[in-house]
Amino acid sequence: PNLQMFVDALPIPEAIDISTGDKLTLGIYKISQKLHRDLPSTTLYGYGTSQAKASYPGPTLKATRGIVSHVRWENHISDSSHFLPVDTTIHWANPKSGGVPIVSHLHGAEVESASDGHPDTWFTAQGETGSKYVTQDYVYANSQPPTMLWYHDHTVGITRLNVYAGLVGIYFINSPSEKGYNLPISDFEIPLLIQDKQFYANGSLNFPNVGDSPLIHPVWCPEFFGDTILVNGKAWPYLNVQRQLYRFRILNAANARFFILSFNNSKLSFKQIGTDGGYLYKPIVLSTLTVAPAFRVDVLVDFSSLAPGTDVLLMNSGPAPFPSGDPAQSPNGTDIVMKFHVVTADSYATGASSSVPSTFQPDAAIDIKDVAVRRNLTLKEFDDSSGNPIISLLGNHHWIDPVTETPRLGTTEIWSIINLTPDAHPIHVHLIQFHVLNQQSFDATGYLNDSCSLSLEYPNPGSCFTENPRQPNVDQIGWKDTAITWPSNVTRFVIRFSSQDGSSFPFDATAGPGYVWHCHILDHEDNDMMRPYVLL
Ligand code: C2O
Ligand code: CU
Repeated sequence: PNLQMFVDALPIPEAIDISTGDKLTLGIYKISQKLHRDLPSTTLYGYGTSQAKASYPGPTLKATRGIVSHVRWENHISDSSHFLPVDTTIHWANPKSGGVPIVSHLHGAEVESASDGHPDTWFTAQGETGSKYVTQDYVYANSQPPTMLWYHDHTVGITRLNVYAGLVGIYFINSPSEKGYNLPISDFEIPLLIQDKQFYANGSLNFPNVGDSPLIHPVWCPEFFGDTILVNGKAWPYLNVQRQLYRFRILNAANARFFILSFNNSKLSFKQIGTDGGYLYKPIVLSTLTVAPAFRVDVLVDFSSLAPGTDVLLMNSGPAPFPSGDPAQSPNGTDIVMKFHVVTADSYATGASSSVPSTFQPDAAIDIKDVAVRRNLTLKEFDDSSGNPIISLLGNHHWIDPVTETPRLGTTEIWSIINLTPDAHPIHVHLIQFHVLNQQSFDATGYLNDSCSLSLEYPNPGSCFTENPRQPNVDQIGWKDTAITWPSNVTRFVIRFSSQDGSSFPFDATAGPGYVWHCHILDHEDNDMMRPYVLL
């Protein structure tokens, strides 16, 4: 359907304070919701404290650093099967008694593994559970510095379907220490949860049901891209803004689309103040933001120089697939995200008093002098006979192969991610926030046919490298839980397996079902581009 842009106001998900000590029960329900003025209601899955309150996106959960939160997750989807097409040829939850398996992961959180939403800890409304299931009563330590996390489904083999169906929501960890920064708050601090979807004229979600390699995977497609951009659950919404400073907490919750955001008005810029894991040392002024799947970008935008009545568009120029791009995957409309409309009234006192701080005090960076282990981990894609990707592997292992990454609690490691594929992959590691140390391009073809070598004991050279290590791109500095690993590059992560401020985790991270690391292109993650890891 051809939908008119900017006819719906940007919705702001309802916020729930989870720092009260009370347990919050959040159910997963089948819901029907209007995603655009002219589109009939869409069947979705949503999170909520009741069927009537369930929504896409789910409620925004607000936690406080240092105060433990308790959330009970319940599955209320009684249907015998998913409303989106499941591919049974890839390894998936496959409940014997039917139903729709779900499990909720708090992305970016320091959390005990029993509460991490491990892909094999799913459960159905019919009472069946995955092989590593422990509990539905999750405990969130909220031990890390203030930032925006997000929760989403993580069920093995159908994460792409459950997230596409609507199982996403925002989670803030706030701290009283932030007040001193005098940043915009309340109506001037706005989460922007961005996704792409595709609709039928009757309003129902369109997700491909024929694979690119039908003989191998009859349903699964290597990457889903939609033609409609939604923010907070509305297609191409608008937001009325005052001539004030705003803080936008941006999340890319798309299955596979990378966004490169900009304004169509050169008077505006982004002052980036934070990333996945919290504040930067100081704001960075940027005209574009590269936002890979799962990235959070915390920015200040000052509308005070614009005349009342001005319209400004938030644009997207991210190629899909990223970074090479196929124009067919970026149809008209995917270049526009939403509209800001500058209004005349300047009535709010809260926004007026905020300012752009010159520095922040994030926790100190990881010291790379005491690296215990260096791991070289390849990303590799395998194609069918006609060249369509059918599977991507991490370190040449399948999801179900025994654990190979076993860091020791409290130690620091360097993970060199060797990308041998033609695509960029946003690699995500659970439990911790890391830093991107550097990236270094190499001759992937030469490496694959053994005509050169990679000496990966950084910084020693190898004959396949085509340059010296480069500093991380501006989009990858600061604390990250997901980072872009560019094709034909080695991207090095510095990971300390402790709480972000360097102290011990306030829980036993060696207990329970363990953690995972994976590509956050959900279609890849679902088809083997994911690996378990456990702490020793
Ligand atoms: Cu956002 Cu393992 O996930
Ligand atoms: Cu990937």
